[in-house]
Amino acid sequence: MALCCYSRTILAVLLVCLIIFGSLLVQWSSIMNTFQRPKLAKSDVPVNITSTTILVWYWAFGFLQSLHGNVCKDRYGIPNCILSDDRSLFPQADFVIFHNRGLINGQQSLPLHLPRPHKQRWVWFSMESPAHNGNLKPFAGQFNYTMSYRRDADFFAPYGWLEPHNVGTGTTVDDFIPTEKSSLACWVVSNFQSNHRRTLIYNKLKKVIPVDVYGGAVHRRLPKKDLLSTISHCYFYLAFENSIFKDYISEKLWNNAFGGAAVPVVVGPPRKNYEAMIPKDSFIHVDDFSSIEELGEFLKKLAGDRERYATYFTWRLNYTVVTYSNWMVEPYCQICTKLTTLQTPKVYWDLQAWEWK
Ligand SMILES: *[C@@H]1O[C@H](CO)[C@@H](O)[C@H](O)[C@H]1NC(C)=O
Ligand SMILES: *[C@@H]1O[C@H](CO)[C@@H](O)[C@H](O)[C@H]1NC(C)=O
Ligand SMILES: *[C@@H]1O[C@H](CO)[C@@H](O)[C@H](O)[C@H]1NC(C)=O
Repeated sequence: MALCCYSRTILAVLLVCLIIFGSLLVQWSSIMNTFQRPKLAKSDVPVNITSTTILVWYWAFGFLQSLHGNVCKDRYGIPNCILSDDRSLFPQADFVIFHNRGLINGQQSLPLHLPRPHKQRWVWFSMESPAHNGNLKPFAGQFNYTMSYRRDADFFAPYGWLEPHNVGTGTTVDDFIPTEKSSLACWVVSNFQSNHRRTLIYNKLKKVIPVDVYGGAVHRRLPKKDLLSTISHCYFYLAFENSIFKDYISEKLWNNAFGGAAVPVVVGPPRKNYEAMIPKDSFIHVDDFSSIEELGEFLKKLAGDRERYATYFTWRLNYTVVTYSNWMVEPYCQICTKLTTLQTPKVYWDLQAWEWK
C-alpha cells in the first residue's frame, strides 16, 4: 500500500517536471530563433557607418596589385572597405595582412618596431599546406586572425566553391561534357618528387592505363592558355595534392579538373573531407579502391560507359564552380563582410600548433 502511493507520487512529480521542461523548450527555441537571425529594420540601419581600413603590408610573392579606385566596392560590391598597400596608413589600419611566404623566406618582417594601435588586428595569410609553411613558432602571440583554405580559419579563403544555379530548361548533363575526349587520364605536375605519395600512385597507375603528363618536370610545359582546352580532352584529371592535410583541396581540383570539365581523380584528405566541399558523385577518390590496379581498371571501364560517365556531371545542373577572380584582393575585401562574426579579442598564442592540429 505504502509502496503503491510512493510510486504514484513519483509519477506525478515526473509529469510536472515534463510539462515544465517542455514549455521551457518551446520558449527557448523561440528565443534562439529570434537571436539567430537578427533582421535589421530599415530604421535600425546605422546612418553613420565608418569604413574599415585593410592594409596589405606587402604582396604575396611580390606580385604587385593595382588598387585603383574604391577597389572593394567597385569590383566586389563591398562598401565601406578601404584596401590599401600604403604603409603610411599603418596607424589607422584596422587590419594588417601578412602573407606567410614573405615572412618565412626572410624577405619581409613584421613591423614590430612600430607602435601597434590597440584596436589593430593582424592577419596571417597562407594558401599552402603546413608542409610548405615553414616554422611558425617565431610568430607566436603576434596574429589575431588566420586566413587560409582551412574551414576553421577566421577568414575562410578556399581555392574554389560551388554556388547553386538554375540552368535553363532544355539544358542536359551532356551539355557539360566536352564532346572530344581523346585521352584517358591527364596530369599536370610542376613539382615532381619521387617521395611524394602522388608520385608513387602515378607510377603504379601508368602501368595500368595511359597517363598524359604535362609540366616542366617532364619537359612538356603547357602554356596557360592551353591548359583547360588540353584537360577538356581528358576523361579524368589526376588532382593529386602535393601533401595530405585537412581541407587542403587546391586549384588542381577547382581550376584544372572542374575548370577543364574532366572528372577529378583525387589524392588528398579523406573522401568525407571532399564531400564537405563538393558532391559525392563529382569525383573519384583513390582511397575508394583497394589497389591502384583496381582504380585503373575502373577508370578504363568508366570511360567506355557513356551513361555512367555522365553521372559524374549531373551535379553541374545545380551548381556552378566559382573561384576568386583575384585571390590576393577579393578575400582581403571580404574581411569587411565578416566583422560581426569575428571572435574578439583573439590571439594565436601558438600558431604552429594551430597549423598542425
Ligand atoms: C556621424 O558621426 C559623427 C561623428 O561621430 C557625428 O558628429 C554625426 O552627428 C553622426 N551623424 C549621424 C547622421 O548620426
Ligand atoms: C537540379 O537541377 C535539375 C534541372 O534544373 C532539377 O530538375 C532538379 O530538381 C535539381 N535538383 C536539386 C536537388 O535541386
Ligand atoms: C591582437 O593581438 C595582439 C598581440 O597579441 C593583442 O595585444 C591584441 O589584444 C589583440 N587584439 C584583439 C582585438 O584581439
